[in-house]
Amino acid sequence: MDTTSSETPAVRIRDLKKVFPVPLRRRQVTALRGLSLDIPAGHVYGLLGPNGSGKSTTLKILLGLVTPTSGTSEIFGIPSSEVKSRTDVGFLPENPYFYKFLTGAETVSFHGKLCGMGGLSLRDRVTELLELVGLQDAGDRRISGYSKGMLQRIGLAQAMVHDPRLLILDEPTAGVDPAGSRQIRDLILRLKERGKTVLLTSHLLEQVQEVCDRVGILAKGELVREGSLDILTGVTGQTEFLIENASPELQAEISRLVAGHGARLVTARQPQLDLETVFLKATEAGKSPRKPPGG
Ligand SMILES: Nc1ncnc2c1ncn2[C@@H]1O[C@H](COP(=O)(O)OP(=O)(O)O)[C@@H](O)[C@H]1O
Ligand SMILES: [Mg+2]
Repeated sequence: MDTTSSETPAVRIRDLKKVFPVPLRRRQVTALRGLSLDIPAGHVYGLLGPNGSGKSTTLKILLGLVTPTSGTSEIFGIPSSEVKSRTDVGFLPENPYFYKFLTGAETVSFHGKLCGMGGLSLRDRVTELLELVGLQDAGDRRISGYSKGMLQRIGLAQAMVHDPRLLILDEPTAGVDPAGSRQIRDLILRLKERGKTVLLTSHLLEQVQEVCDRVGILAKGELVREGSLDILTGVTGQTEFLIENASPELQAEISRLVAGHGARLVTARQPQLDLETVFLKATEAGKSPRKPPGG
């Protein structure tokens, strides 16, 4: 009985090391110092770290674009050194390059043709993808007029054209405004619903929190923390309540009750919205035409 396929992780990285020579200066840059990680199929994994910590190098090695100094990497059980490891992968690079004179629809279609697709099925696929990334109304416009957020989304549509099981996204929300990055995060959640595996990198930590199941934190080429988000960020030994319409009397009673049980009330305060939510609410309200009173 073959049970390996269900257990084969989407990504397996073992003891990856990468030293870049810097020929003119006769020195070396060590980008990765023995990185190991597994990403189970169907997960959204965030590889986090400051600039220069080795995130892009990891992705490039995984995609076979850079050869590691030592160590191995596999995609769905196939070594990155084999071309066929990339058949089920879509990649959105850090600074994707687009032909500015093509329209959005042509950009996705062009990539589909490079993947060996064509005809009516490609046309339908392009329409479906433009809808998925929310660019159905911009599909006929030239890329040169797209915002950074729209470019990232057309890049995502392009990466998904051949319906790969794994998507690798290098800093998908970097340089994108809050509304645009919200759309990209929603899109990643929709991919997850469809059973896709997503590996993304980011140095924008708060943006990762709501989409990733697991995160790994890279520092100077080493994985310094790794685990599921609740385990990494959860505070043990504390419980949070959110109470509506609590009168001062009720609050006082709760404090007494807590103290009576040998516990301690740490905070009782008004919950705060994060600044991004405030920003999105304010700018959305500004954009949508308000109904005239009584109209
Ligand atoms: N082709 C290269 N040649 C020399 N050094 C490189 C090359 N690519 C990356 N590096 C170095 O490797 C380190 C990690 O880079 P990178 O993987 O791009 O980091 P990140 O994506 O986390 O910002 C950096 O110090 C960077 O300067
Ligand atoms: Mg990078």
